[in-house]
Amino acid sequence: MKASLILLALAGSIYLGDTEKILQTANKNVTTGAAVNVKLLTENELYRKLVEKEYNSLTPENAMKMASLQPREGSFEFSNTTALEDLALNAGKKRIHGHTLIWYRSLPQWVKNWETQALPSGMTRAQKMDSVMSIHIRTVISHYDNPSSIYKDDLGKPLLKSWDVVNEAFDDNGNYRALPEASNQENGGSIWYRTIGKSYIKKAFTYARTTAEKNGDTGLKLFYNDYGHDYSVKKLDSIYKMAMALKQVKVNGKPIIDGIGMQFHININTSVENIKNALIKMKSTGLLIHISELDISLNKAGLPFPTEILAIQKQKYKDVALLYRKYVPANQRWGITLWNVGDQDSWLTYKGSDQVDAACLFDLNYQRKPAFFNFYDGLKLDIPAGY
Ligand code: GLA
Repeated sequence: MKASLILLALAGSIYLGDTEKILQTANKNVTTGAAVNVKLLTENELYRKLVEKEYNSLTPENAMKMASLQPREGSFEFSNTTALEDLALNAGKKRIHGHTLIWYRSLPQWVKNWETQALPSGMTRAQKMDSVMSIHIRTVISHYDNPSSIYKDDLGKPLLKSWDVVNEAFDDNGNYRALPEASNQENGGSIWYRTIGKSYIKKAFTYARTTAEKNGDTGLKLFYNDYGHDYSVKKLDSIYKMAMALKQVKVNGKPIIDGIGMQFHININTSVENIKNALIKMKSTGLLIHISELDISLNKAGLPFPTEILAIQKQKYKDVALLYRKYVPANQRWGITLWNVGDQDSWLTYKGSDQVDAACLFDLNYQRKPAFFNFYDGLKLDIPAGY
């Protein structure tokens, strides 16, 4: 026990002594963030120090999803995000990216119940769900906009600068997710689409923009976030068309959408060509582009990982950073957010079944992996010919 504690302290001090290469200062034109687990922030010092040190943008992994923020109808719980806000405030005023207001997953049970239960008199199901959506969006945005909140930057603006307003509205064929409730998991359907219809997306963005404007939060950036841009051209096209249509809708003369989140849960077989094409297409919307959930799966569970596979992953991390810088102009970059900090907290690691995928930049002990240094180089070094 004692020996392992000493080892841990030693590992920590070696790590903390290495001040040379830090992601958040690699490139002033690429904000670098991570999806952060608030429980680990309060319980694991090594994790917290690493988050403080490496990133200048924080996305709560789960703490701002609907099931966390409104577990019972009308009863909002914001206390789970305080640790994240404290860190953002006290470690150099980091940016917070809100994730996510309207999604078909991470819904509290009471929302699902509204698909079938008896409605308040005089209300259609579409009206009820529209009202659920509107109340959620207005209340949550206003909470983080609160003028008396201490979580402000040097200009007195909220540290939370952006929201994923709608997450994953399309399936891999580029159709709106619409399957019935029974299949409402991985590739399932959206209760919002089924009850309100496709106008739910425009409505959600309109509620978000109207609320922010009313609160004087005129700089709040509103994103549509999804995955699959790299492997489904149909989905890419649907997202493009929807984004272009939303751009035409204005509140106070301002488009209701500001940006596209490209999750990039990619893997070692994702080609440079596909990443490049996806970036070029999304950039052509003229909107901000956020690589919002980057991780690179090895498609392989369990140690040890073959060196050739790790070498491909390392190179791909560098490719993503270089391609982002090459194809997305600096004024359209919202940054790159890594999904999870290390293999230890990665969603691809399942503790029960011992599955470790090793998709992240930090290992199971939060030490930097070779991929970290390649990604850093991709953020910093000149872009070689051939990209
Ligand atoms: C999606 C969601 C994220 C997270 C990941 C991994 O990409 O947007 O919030 O849940 O899946 O689980």
